[in-house]
Amino acid sequence: MPTLPATTPPGLHLAIIMDGNGRWASARGRPRAAGHVVGARKAREMVEVASNHGIGTMTLYAFSADNWARPRREVVTLMRLFRRTILAEQERCIATGVRLIFIGRRDRLPRELLHTIEAAEAATAGGKRLLLRVALDYGARDTIERVIAMARTIDGPVTRDKVAELIGRADHSGGAAPDVDLLVRTGGEQRLSDFLLWECAYAELIFTRRMWPDFSEDDLVQALKEFHSRHRRFGAIDEPAEERARTA
Ligand code: FPP
Repeated sequence: MPTLPATTPPGLHLAIIMDGNGRWASARGRPRAAGHVVGARKAREMVEVASNHGIGTMTLYAFSADNWARPRREVVTLMRLFRRTILAEQERCIATGVRLIFIGRRDRLPRELLHTIEAAEAATAGGKRLLLRVALDYGARDTIERVIAMARTIDGPVTRDKVAELIGRADHSGGAAPDVDLLVRTGGEQRLSDFLLWECAYAELIFTRRMWPDFSEDDLVQALKEFHSRHRRFGAIDEPAEERARTA
């Protein structure tokens, strides 16, 4: 089912690596799956609060292309949880203007999950308040490989805009890859783990030790305060006022 082109709503693009579900559950003597269930509830809660804090696009890292290497039982549990969560949340997304898009590979997902995500994308296509991108079987290097193969077949120069457009096509996101403004990773690790490598070129990075199930609206507000306190120069320098006047 083709997706409609995605337009990026105004507002920040927040990307989140939702890490720490397994450790959160183990610390409580519960199976890892319990951490994923609470993690899915947390994702739902954060979607609800995101647009109240100036976020127009949110990309959540739900399952990486390398996560297939986890024990089969955990992978199956996660796939079922994704399907259940999408089915349970779809109506609320429509009612609250959330447009759902899934980025990543589609050829390895279970058939029922694939149908569910395609139906959710079609059903929520009119949402204008928040663009919610869920990364499923996603790996940035995997995307780059597909972009290179596509670039070989096109005429004309492969400009940056063209690359962004091809990433959108390779990831099935229906539009050019939007730059990330702020990337938050929970769970204490300080790495990107193959997430949105092109899109994060000038992203501000915030790492917190908080495990994803414990992440709160307050933590999000703190992260946004820190983001707004940073000075983004995108590789340029701050020209002193007198210098600017002299060269004007
Ligand atoms: C990383 O924690 C988390 C995952 C691999 C799964 C994340 C998925 C969800 C929160 C469900 C979201 C669902 C939707 C549809 C958005 P980990 O297991 O690597 O934790 P650990 O580092 O403590 O082992």
